[in-house]
Amino acid sequence: MRNWIKFPTAQGSHSRQAHADFPEEGIYEREMGRSGFFGPASHMHHKHAPTGWVEWEGDLRPRAFDLNKLDANNHPADAASPFSAPVILSNAHCQYRMWHCTQVMPRLARNADGDDLLFIHEGQGDLFCDFGHLQVVKGDYIVIPRSTMWRLVPESAMQILMIEATNDAYQLPEKGMVGGHAIFDPAVLDTPQINPAFLQQQDEASWQVEVKRHNRLSRITYPYNPLDAIGWHGDLTVVRLNWRDIRPLMSHRYHLPPSAHTTFVAARFVICTFVPRPIESDPGALKVPFYHNNDDYDEVLFYHEGDFFSRDNIEKGMVTFHPAGFTHGPHPKAFEAGRQHKKTFTDEVAVMLDTRDALDIGEAASAVENPDYVYSWRSDEDKQGT
Ligand SMILES: [Fe+2]
Repeated sequence: MRNWIKFPTAQGSHSRQAHADFPEEGIYEREMGRSGFFGPASHMHHKHAPTGWVEWEGDLRPRAFDLNKLDANNHPADAASPFSAPVILSNAHCQYRMWHCTQVMPRLARNADGDDLLFIHEGQGDLFCDFGHLQVVKGDYIVIPRSTMWRLVPESAMQILMIEATNDAYQLPEKGMVGGHAIFDPAVLDTPQINPAFLQQQDEASWQVEVKRHNRLSRITYPYNPLDAIGWHGDLTVVRLNWRDIRPLMSHRYHLPPSAHTTFVAARFVICTFVPRPIESDPGALKVPFYHNNDDYDEVLFYHEGDFFSRDNIEKGMVTFHPAGFTHGPHPKAFEAGRQHKKTFTDEVAVMLDTRDALDIGEAASAVENPDYVYSWRSDEDKQGT
C-alpha cells in the first residue's frame, strides 16, 4: 500500500458527500482522482461544464473511432488470422484489436505473448482449443490463457474485440465487502468440453499452428491435428463469461464509479462491463456519470449495444478513447436528461478498458476516426453560434 498524503479538507460552497445533494442548482461536479477511483480524490463544484472547451490544439484529445468502417478504409478486419486483425490501440502491456472472423480459421492460433480476451460483438460459432469445444455466442467474453492453441469455426460472421494482456494474465477483481458471489457467481463461468464435436474434429490431416511471440509470427506444421487431447485435469483453461450473467452492483442513492463494474484485471489495466441497470432514483443523487479526470488512466469504451445513455451520437461498434490529461463527462443532452431524470433504466452494454500506461493509436484506428468528436460536447446553442 502506498502512503498517500491525506488531509481531507473543504473550501467554499460544497456538498456533504460526493455525487449527491449539490450545494446549488445548475452546478457541475468534477472529480479529480488518482489510482482509478481508489486513490485520493477531490470533488469540485464548477459554474461551467468542465467539457465546455471551444478550441483544442495538439495531439492529446478525446477521440472516437467507428470500427464499423474498418473494411472500407484499406484496413480489412476480416483476416484469416486473429493476429492479422488491425491494432486499434496498444501499449507495452496490452493490444486492442477488432477482428472480423468471417471464415473457418485455416490454422490454429497460439499467442505466446500473453493471455487474450475475446469479446464477441457479433455472430456465433464453435471454439476448438487444447481443452475441448465451446460454443460461443454474441456477448461472450472468452479468456484464452497464454499459449493455448485454438481455432474458431464461425456459424455466422463474427466481430470480435480482442484484448491481449501482453506478458501478463487475466484475473478476477477483488470483490471485497460484496463477497465472491456478487456481480457474477464463478459458477456461471463455462469451460470447454471434451465432447463428441471435439473428438470428431481430431484427424490425421496436415495442420499448422501460427504462434505469435515478441509480436512476430512463426508457423509450425504437424501431420495431424494437435488438438488431440482425450482428456485433461487442472485449473488452467479457457473460460467463458457472457455479459447477461453479470448482475451489476448499483445503488439507488449513489452513482457508483466505473470500478464497481470491473470484470477482469491485469497488472497494468482493467476491463469493466457496463450492463443494463436501473438509474439512480434518489432525488439528490447524480443520474449520469460524473465529470472526472481519472488522472492515472487512459480510458477506452467499446459500445456493444443499447442506447448509450451518457453519450450523444454514439452507435454500436464505435470506440471512444479518453486519454488521461483532461476532464471528460456526459454529453450535454445526456447531462440534461440525467438532471431531469428522464430515463429510469439504461439498457447500454459497453466494454471499458482502462490502462495505467498511455495508449498509442493504431493506423487502422486513425483511418476511421471522427475528427469532430473533440467538439461533440458543444451544446446546440454553441453549435448555432459557430
Ligand atoms: Fe472516465
